[in-house]
Amino acid sequence: MRHLLWLATALVSTVVAEDGLAGWLRYAPLPEKIAKCHAKSIPSQVKVLGATDGLPLASAVNELKLGLRGIMGKEVDVHSEGCLGDETPTILLSTLENYVSACGELDADEPPSLEEDGFYFNTKDGNVVILGSNERATLYGTFEYLSRLAQANFEAVEYVDNPEANIRWGNHWDNMDYTSSTHGSVERGYAGVSIFFQDNKIRSDLSRVAQYARLLASIRLNAIVINNVNANPITLTDENLEGVGRIADLFRPYGVQVALSLNFASPVELGDLDTFDPLDEDVVRWWDDMIDTIYGVVPDLAGFLNKANSEGQPGPLTYNRTLAEGANMMARPTARHGGIFMFRAFVYDHHLDHRDWYNDRANAAVEFFQHHDGEFEENVVVQIKYGPIDFQVREPPSTLFAHLRDTPMAIELQVTQEYLGQQNHLFYLNPLWREILDFDLRVDGEASYVRDAVSGKRFGHKLGGYAAVINVGMDRNWLGSHLAMSNLYGYGRIAWDSQSDSVEVIEDWTRLTFGLDRRVIDTIAEMSMLSWPMYENYTGNLGVQTLTDILHTHYGPNPASQDNNGWGQWTRANEHSIGMDRTVWNGTGFAGQYPAEVAEQFEHIETTPDNLLLWFHHVPYTHVLKSGNTVIQHFYDAHYDGAEAAQTLVPMWESLKGRIDEERHAHMLRRLVYQTGHAIVWRDAVNYFYHNLSGIEDEAGRVGSHPWRIEVEDMALDGYEKVAVTPPSTASRFYAVEAAPGSSEATATTTLGFPAGRYRLAVNYYDLPDGQASYEVHINGEVVAAWEGDYDLYLGNSKSEFLDGHTAARRWLGEVDIAEGDELKIVGRPDGIERAPLDYVVFLPEGVVD
Ligand SMILES: *[C@@H]1O[C@H](CO)[C@@H](O)[C@H](O)[C@H]1NC(C)=O
Ligand SMILES: *[C@@H]1O[C@H](CO)[C@@H](O)[C@H](O)[C@H]1NC(C)=O
Ligand SMILES: *[C@@H]1O[C@H](CO)[C@@H](O)[C@H](O)[C@H]1NC(C)=O
Ligand SMILES: *[C@@H]1O[C@H](CO)[C@@H](O)[C@H](O)[C@H]1NC(C)=O
Repeated sequence: MRHLLWLATALVSTVVAEDGLAGWLRYAPLPEKIAKCHAKSIPSQVKVLGATDGLPLASAVNELKLGLRGIMGKEVDVHSEGCLGDETPTILLSTLENYVSACGELDADEPPSLEEDGFYFNTKDGNVVILGSNERATLYGTFEYLSRLAQANFEAVEYVDNPEANIRWGNHWDNMDYTSSTHGSVERGYAGVSIFFQDNKIRSDLSRVAQYARLLASIRLNAIVINNVNANPITLTDENLEGVGRIADLFRPYGVQVALSLNFASPVELGDLDTFDPLDEDVVRWWDDMIDTIYGVVPDLAGFLNKANSEGQPGPLTYNRTLAEGANMMARPTARHGGIFMFRAFVYDHHLDHRDWYNDRANAAVEFFQHHDGEFEENVVVQIKYGPIDFQVREPPSTLFAHLRDTPMAIELQVTQEYLGQQNHLFYLNPLWREILDFDLRVDGEASYVRDAVSGKRFGHKLGGYAAVINVGMDRNWLGSHLAMSNLYGYGRIAWDSQSDSVEVIEDWTRLTFGLDRRVIDTIAEMSMLSWPMYENYTGNLGVQTLTDILHTHYGPNPASQDNNGWGQWTRANEHSIGMDRTVWNGTGFAGQYPAEVAEQFEHIETTPDNLLLWFHHVPYTHVLKSGNTVIQHFYDAHYDGAEAAQTLVPMWESLKGRIDEERHAHMLRRLVYQTGHAIVWRDAVNYFYHNLSGIEDEAGRVGSHPWRIEVEDMALDGYEKVAVTPPSTASRFYAVEAAPGSSEATATTTLGFPAGRYRLAVNYYDLPDGQASYEVHINGEVVAAWEGDYDLYLGNSKSEFLDGHTAARRWLGEVDIAEGDELKIVGRPDGIERAPLDYVVFLPEGVVD
């Protein structure tokens, strides 16, 4: 026993405390045996041709030194000139052009054919040769080399790696704002405030930006839009532009170009014009001057992004000008500086009349844009969300990808988990992205994969590619959750190569982030690959969308919020039937926006896959799916299956204890434990809602039947009041209790009627921001468990101040022995707005998840 203990301690002490700041660029030492065995095969001499301080080649040298020191424990000599061939093994870093002019043609079987940002990589023959098409490509190749070493991959290889698309951008929704409660907030950000902005200004301390630049370059992103698409015009004041210049100076050494979101109304809001009509001469001149000014500060600015006439944003439609006229007015001066003008296709009316069966927000992108195909300036790229609605758990691809033949396109993805658990729920996104990118739209009856439409390949454009909303914040670990970082890494991988295998990507990321332990790699890959099907199961299935509260936080469950409003994320659920009828023959016609073969497939229920059924069709709850189940029974089953699958995350993660550092292990464990409880909240809220609406029983008798629960509102209450929860389905039996206003303590008491035995104890309650109520569970007068309502302190989701699906949470309180007739008492002590709210207590026999 003592021997075993010693072993366990030894194992733990080899894993060093980490906070996630380094992301996947930890350059952690390889196990000594491996490092020793291979150290000799790594050249000790580096030659770098044409490095200039502050530019990517110089960064490549720095990274190489840092990486070799960290990973291999090896120091290298750096020379700023020379070629290969003087016997001493060499790591040579250069652009291909510099190499050829200094050293002559490359001694390769075939001269490498490099595209913009592509690189040549050769570790055969004892040397390591990294030649980029440009400086940042050489840096990409250097990161590639270090990534291979960090994964203990010493294979001798020679290859060329070219990107599939030249636009590989990140979009930040960081706000230039300053109110009593916001100091550089991040829209849909769940990991602290902006790394760029504070109180209407650019931060004076931008050290996080420099660290971020490295991460972005290592995944080969080449530009970053730093401010929200809902753009504050004051971003363009002289003082703030100076700050943008400082940010660009920090990204430049890593080859990441800065871009800005523009507010269409700036000539009025910031300038002194009384119009922002894009055809008005003064407006044209105002933008010409402004864009020249911006490029004066940041000469290598990548360009601009604009969200026009969407969700209340100003745009050309305000003056009855076309979207193309609006985009072109700003794109022209941008083109003179070599910049790109990204124009978002997210234009729709959010006051749609829901009573009209034929209205459909999904139709908007094609309706707004198809007639303008070919009217845009050459440097305009239309940026299209992957699905027709808004980053849902499952959507078919946007139909617009099939319509813009004469306009370059970029696909908009979200690393941010806006509708997908807001980084509190594990959701590995690459499989979802792959499914969209691999969809064949069959334009003109020919292979037309979304990936080829966006890269420019299908319709013959040089420009095209990827943009992803990345909402890193000031949290040390960037995204709030360590595991969420696989999505940032994975985005870079897929934007470079759309065919990146999702399992390979998560395995590579895990090796870089947590080390080489096979068990860690397999477990994190398994958890990650489970995460999408699981989350889809307990949130919204059959293509009905994420059944979250779409009116507020986009986080917890609220199926009723989808319908009866102007936002157009409708499910059209009534007592008998559910689903959006998007057929041509009887519905909104959206299916007909796809090219003929795809349109035909989605037009008919028989040929529509189950997982998109309710996206395209309105059917009775009793409709029988291809699986053989009815729609309603599938809802029930999937929610139970998904919530049960979520429970497996915790034991999987716990099995890694001691194999990864305690800090990151504990941090993730808290989130995963929370997720297991919130998955049950989701399951019950959605199931209760449709159970009540349809009046159809669950064949398995689970929905509404919870033999091991005790509703706190049914206990003897002292100081507690019974309250109705909104939406009702986010409380077990629709009611909860809260301590009376102003009281300092409240209790709920009952006599237990369960058979004697050992049970797993859990309590469902509501965890509000601005307050940490404390609770105690007593059995026969003895405290058996206690907790504080402190989830809000370490979870990053959008806050709600109400008892609802966002604040509903579970606390697992360990195992207890009870006997029939025991007295259960819960004591709640309110704090702030958190009046110790409680929903139910559950005593779970072995093996029961409820
Ligand atoms: C808006 O423009 C369209 C097309 O140019 C024109 O037919 C229509 O009359 C205009 N409407 C207004 C209100 O100016
Ligand atoms: C056709 O549309 C009407 C609404 O216009 C709807 O009530 C009906 O259910 C639809 N029929 C079918 C077969 O989907
Ligand atoms: C999702 O639900 C379906 C239907 O109940 C089930 O077949 C599948 O195994 C579930 N998967 C997960 C990961 O929960
Ligand atoms: C149950 O459904 C009916 C409509 O069918 C609705 O009026 C009622 O509010 C629902 N009750 C709950 C608790 O959701």
